[in-house]
Parts: sequence; C-alpha cells; structure tokens
Amino acid sequence: MSDRYAVVGFPIQHSWSPFIHGMFAKQTEQDLTYSRLEVPPEKFDEEIAAFFQSGGKGLNITVPHKQSASAFARFRTPRAEIAGAVNTLALQDTGILGDNTDGAGLLTDLTRNLSMALDNTRILLLGAGGAARGVLGPLLSAAPEYLEIANRNVERARQLTDEFKPLGNVHACGFDAISVSGTFDLILNATSASLQDTIPPIPPSVIGPTTLCYDMAYGKGDTAFTRWAKSAGAGRAETGWGMLVEQAAEAFYLWRGIKPDTKSVLEAVKQQK
Ligand code: ATR
Repeated sequence: MSDRYAVVGFPIQHSWSPFIHGMFAKQTEQDLTYSRLEVPPEKFDEEIAAFFQSGGKGLNITVPHKQSASAFARFRTPRAEIAGAVNTLALQDTGILGDNTDGAGLLTDLTRNLSMALDNTRILLLGAGGAARGVLGPLLSAAPEYLEIANRNVERARQLTDEFKPLGNVHACGFDAISVSGTFDLILNATSASLQDTIPPIPPSVIGPTTLCYDMAYGKGDTAFTRWAKSAGAGRAETGWGMLVEQAAEAFYLWRGIKPDTKSVLEAVKQQK
C-alpha cells in the first residue's frame, strides 16, 4: 500500500498542497497518496491521533491548527520551538516529530528564486501574529543589518521584539511610526490584511526603486499589498506562491529524504491559479 500523507486545516478545500505534493511525488517517483483533511479545532487531537494510528506517515498543518500541532508532537525541531508553531508532522521511530518549514520556505524563495541576499539588508516585517513569528528566526539567522516589526497592535510587536532580540537587531513600532528614515530593502507582509483585501497603513516613503515587497499571502494575481507596492514604486512585488511551494518541498524532504525540484512545480502552480 502507498504511504499516506495529508494536509489538515479548517477550512481546507482550497488548499494547493495536494497538487504540489502530487507533483513532487510524481517527479521523484515516490509511492504515496496525499489528501485533504478538514478537522474542526475541537477534534484536532483525536483525528490526528487516528490518522497516525491507522498507518499515516505525515501531515502538513495549516490554519488554525499550527499551535495544536506543536502541542501534539512528541518532539519538535529547534526551528519549530523558536516559531512556537508546527506546520509539518512526521512519523518517526521514536514518535511524532513536529517541524516548521515556513521560515525556511520563505528564505529559499527570497534567496534562491528571487536572488535576494539578506545579509546587511534592512527589513520591514508587517504583522506580529503567528505568520510573523514563524519566519522571524530564519530571517534573523540570515544576518540582516536591521529588522523592524510594525504592527497595528504595537504591544504585540514589542513582545516579539523582546523574545527575538537575542537573535539579531530587531525593533518594534506601530504603522504610524516606522522609525527608520529612508527605504527598506525588503518589506514583508505577514499580516492577514490581504485576506480582507486591505493593506496595512504604511507610508509609501519606505519603498524605493530597489525594494522587494513580498506578501506572504497569495491569491489570483496580485494581492492588495502587492498592487499597492507596485503603485508606490517598488522594484519588485511578489506574492507568497514561492514560499508555499518551498515550505512544501522542505516538508517533503523531511518525510522522504529527497529534495524535489521546485522550479517546475512553481511554474505549474502559477499556470493553474
Ligand atoms: P496569522 O497566524 O495569520 O499571523 P494572527 O495571529 O491572527 O494570524 O495575526 C494576524 C496579524 O495580521 C496580526 O499582526 C494583526 O494585527 P493585530 O495584532 O494588530 O491584530 C494583523 N492584521 C489583521 N488584519 C489587519 C488589518 N486589516 N490591517 C493591519 N493588520 C492586520
């Protein structure tokens, strides 16, 4: 029988993970199936335990379950501990391992697919929720000169700053007080504003002709944020499709020990959407 994998969320019907992992499996000739599991929060532990007890090998975890998955895992990778959330569960000899591949996926997309070197750059991270927390560790490990976290609720940004201070030069502010004069090299939207088709109210003066504006959200064409960034003169504006495919590739590697080629899959996803 084929090894079984799935993505778990609530809701889950629009997830691209089955398409992406299906392509990875075909390309690397791995004998596996990958499905969607719609699981409400109150059933998470029960259904996830049942999946593994019935022989399932691994799960991807999405909204709203990433913290529950972290608690469910018997062991966590250091990057999952730092993120405080788990997006990948893998059956291992000693129990269920929890990993977080979101930050690594973002970094691969930025550095390899978009050819951006992050060392000595100035980064503006918009948002201080789970999505922002998940990528902060990997971003700071890339040694930017300065990373500013701007959030609607400044207190949340401060809490993140206090926590991540040991890892790099990180500061907090509200949208109305983005403190560095001049432009940023990279502006990352980790708020959920795009899902409401709106943008965080930041001044266009933070964008310059070489700024890369990156929305961790993705949809058909531009998001509200990438549309705004282009109109404000950003050198480049990208949505989060590359991060989605790269975090999936990291999960696939954890499960199967093989790194799939992501370029062809990203192209296929972009054609389908
Ligand atoms: P996620 O896991 O997607 O990060 P979350 O933990 O609920 O979800 O965090 C959502 C983030 O988007 C937060 O930074 C939130 O700002 P607050 O902390 O001030 O609530 C931000 N956010 C949501 N809607 C927004 C909007 N319309 N404008 C600006 N920021 C928004």
